[in-house]
Amino acid sequence: MSNILVTGGAGFIPSHLVDALLDDNHEVTSVDNFITGKKENLSKKENHTFIKADVNNLDEIEPIIRNGNYEYIFHYAALVGVHRTINNPIGVLNDLSGLENIFFLAKETKVKKIFFSSSSEVYGEPVELPQREYLTPLNSRLPYAVIKNVGECFCKSYKQEHNLDYTIFRFFNTYGFRQSKDFVVSKFLELAKENKDITVYGTGLQTRTFCYIDDHIEATTKVFRDNIYNNEIINIGNDEETTILQLAETIIKILDSKSKIIHLDPLKEGDMTRRQPDVERMKSLLNRDFTPLEKGLKKII
Ligand SMILES: NC(=O)c1ccc[n+]([C@@H]2O[C@H](COP(=O)([O-])OP(=O)(O)OC[C@H]3O[C@@H](n4cnc5c(N)ncnc54)[C@H](O)[C@@H]3O)[C@@H](O)[C@H]2O)c1
Repeated sequence: MSNILVTGGAGFIPSHLVDALLDDNHEVTSVDNFITGKKENLSKKENHTFIKADVNNLDEIEPIIRNGNYEYIFHYAALVGVHRTINNPIGVLNDLSGLENIFFLAKETKVKKIFFSSSSEVYGEPVELPQREYLTPLNSRLPYAVIKNVGECFCKSYKQEHNLDYTIFRFFNTYGFRQSKDFVVSKFLELAKENKDITVYGTGLQTRTFCYIDDHIEATTKVFRDNIYNNEIINIGNDEETTILQLAETIIKILDSKSKIIHLDPLKEGDMTRRQPDVERMKSLLNRDFTPLEKGLKKII
């Protein structure tokens, strides 16, 4: 049994992570400032403690980490969402303080290892597919992608200077229960349920890969449980490419919805043409087939 801190614990992915760690009988503390997280996502299990705090604010996070005696930190708190991050670049850049605070305090309190939630966004506009952890050049330009890239640099720099171990997870689009409504899958599901128009940017032929939350959590918790991929980077995602148009059509079909698909002007920035992870490492972690998109969607519905 380990003593673990999860930042962003009221959010979609981190709350599922907290549940899985609690199921494995670890002692888990989570912190969140509720910028996008929700109270109802918080586990009420005995071995879970929640503390409301902003990780970007040293006065708030320092006493928690100094008194917590944590062996491991999963740093998952971040400002997220395409529109929120594009419209609020300074808010995104404030997450730099969170990185400074978490890594400094982890070093100070002799945390054994940090797990960092990076993003497929660090690859930027794709220069090759599939995108490989070490070989594909990073093309990050937008503040959200740059901050994730900087987070990866924090991992490597604290390893070099203070021997603090890390694993970097590069998350590709993950979907599932509890995801906020401003992500493409949950947004389309909501609109289709209400028979409202579904809007896609541009042609809708831009592709994404969609990883079901159970596959995501199974892979990341295996890394933790088996103490593997130390000081390494792993793409966490599914490699089946789907166009945004196909996603909308699939959702309409499954829900037998009367929604129509409406095309809007393309986004000026941030809507990558394609994205696809190299999943060799992810597959070795999962050791079974990925959950197909239709099956995952039906599970949420
Ligand atoms: N969902 C995806 O497909 C995806 C893809 C790539 C990367 N990620 C990364 O995974 C992590 C979790 O994302 P998610 O999709 O579950 O989003 P989410 O918004 O549901 O979770 C993020 C949580 O962090 C909290 N938070 C944000 N800033 C904070 C701060 N300064 N202090 C304390 N709490 C703060 C939010 O309130 C929220 O509960 C993020 O780091 C995100 O960048 C997610």
